Amino acid sequence: MSDSSISKFFEKSRKERLDIVGGFADLTAEELEVLQNSDGGISFEKADKMIENAIGTFSLPLGIATSFKINDKDYLVPMVIEEPSVIAAASKGAKIARIMGGFKVASDESYSIGQIQILDVDINLAIKKIQENSIEIIALANSKSNTLSKMNKGAKEVSCKTIDTDFGKMLIVELLIDVGDAMGANVTNTMCEAVSPLLEKITGGRTLLRILSNYSTRRIAKATAVFDKNAIGGENVVDNIVLAYQFANNDVYRAVTHNKGIMNGIIAVANATGQDSRAIEAAANAYASRSGKYRSLSKWIKDSNGNLVGSLELPLSVGIVGGIANVHPIAKICMKILKVSSAQELACVMTATGLAQNYSAIRALSTEGIQKGHMRLHARNLAAAAGAKPEQIDKIVQIMIEQKQISLDKAKEILFNLDS
Ligand code: MEV
Repeated sequence: MSDSSISKFFEKSRKERLDIVGGFADLTAEELEVLQNSDGGISFEKADKMIENAIGTFSLPLGIATSFKINDKDYLVPMVIEEPSVIAAASKGAKIARIMGGFKVASDESYSIGQIQILDVDINLAIKKIQENSIEIIALANSKSNTLSKMNKGAKEVSCKTIDTDFGKMLIVELLIDVGDAMGANVTNTMCEAVSPLLEKITGGRTLLRILSNYSTRRIAKATAVFDKNAIGGENVVDNIVLAYQFANNDVYRAVTHNKGIMNGIIAVANATGQDSRAIEAAANAYASRSGKYRSLSKWIKDSNGNLVGSLELPLSVGIVGGIANVHPIAKICMKILKVSSAQELACVMTATGLAQNYSAIRALSTEGIQKGHMRLHARNLAAAAGAKPEQIDKIVQIMIEQKQISLDKAKEILFNLDS
């Protein structure tokens, strides 16, 4: 099975959902067993090796967003998130985008930036010396990673910039490193530390900080999708969504909330695949401020046919090798469910998920508001928890909403009446 648009996935039992996902991603019996019985992940022994002062582990819900078509390939998207409605919203956004061909996404190659702060130097002379010795600096950096060197990746460029500080001008050297399919923090830090004695020797200065920059502007992903005007409620809704975007793009208070909705999608996939979500958030927020004002990360316009066109552009530093994605059993399975074969492809999926999420949030906000949908979903979950059969759920939800009584007891009462 390679079609990700699965009808009524949310109404299926856990077993049925697992069978579908297992079939889609060719999961083995052992992998299905891990999903079903490992209580969400790692043993305490593993946790104790990962962090300091461990006292336990902490699990969160893992769900699957359906209907994603990205660059003509179908994806089931694993999402780890505690917030209700997010996975439904992503799936809904993907379903509508699919009508006009799905998401088109492109992602830069994975260049990470390492920074070295150099003090106590004649800056102009130091820059000249660094430029003269750049081949040696790059070779020394690359001697720290056989793996990247063998793949013709690794450090590619060394550049210098000056910054103004309270203590006058300061020299910052930057290493540009092709980290391939890794997130690359470790290798970048290692290379920065390795070249700093050479930089001190060449410049006669003193190096202070030697660290990766999480502002990964050489790892930009850009997604676009067309949303059919008829499927989203007509041209009036398209116009209102464009106006909603204008609000977000021009008011920081709204922009933060709007971008938070985008991050609902991106971080949920980051969590499922074991990425460094703090790095992703920090870079995204800096990117939202790149014009000098904090703005929307996405853009929404109406095309000449009256359809809605959304785009989302942001830096995404992610990896499919190294990191906890290789250690955490569920993250490994999530990676398999995604069927991504490169870090760039993972960045594409995450960007499409962010755009789908943003579409659904601003569509709901520009029409009926988000509370109605939230309550409907909440009522569905309660009806299912009360033991309703799939064919009974709509009826129970309808009665609870009509009577404005949404609770487990009410769901049980309605179910009892339906059954008797
Ligand atoms: C809630 O988690 C996210 C939203 O607030 C996003 C938005 O307002 O665009 C619904």
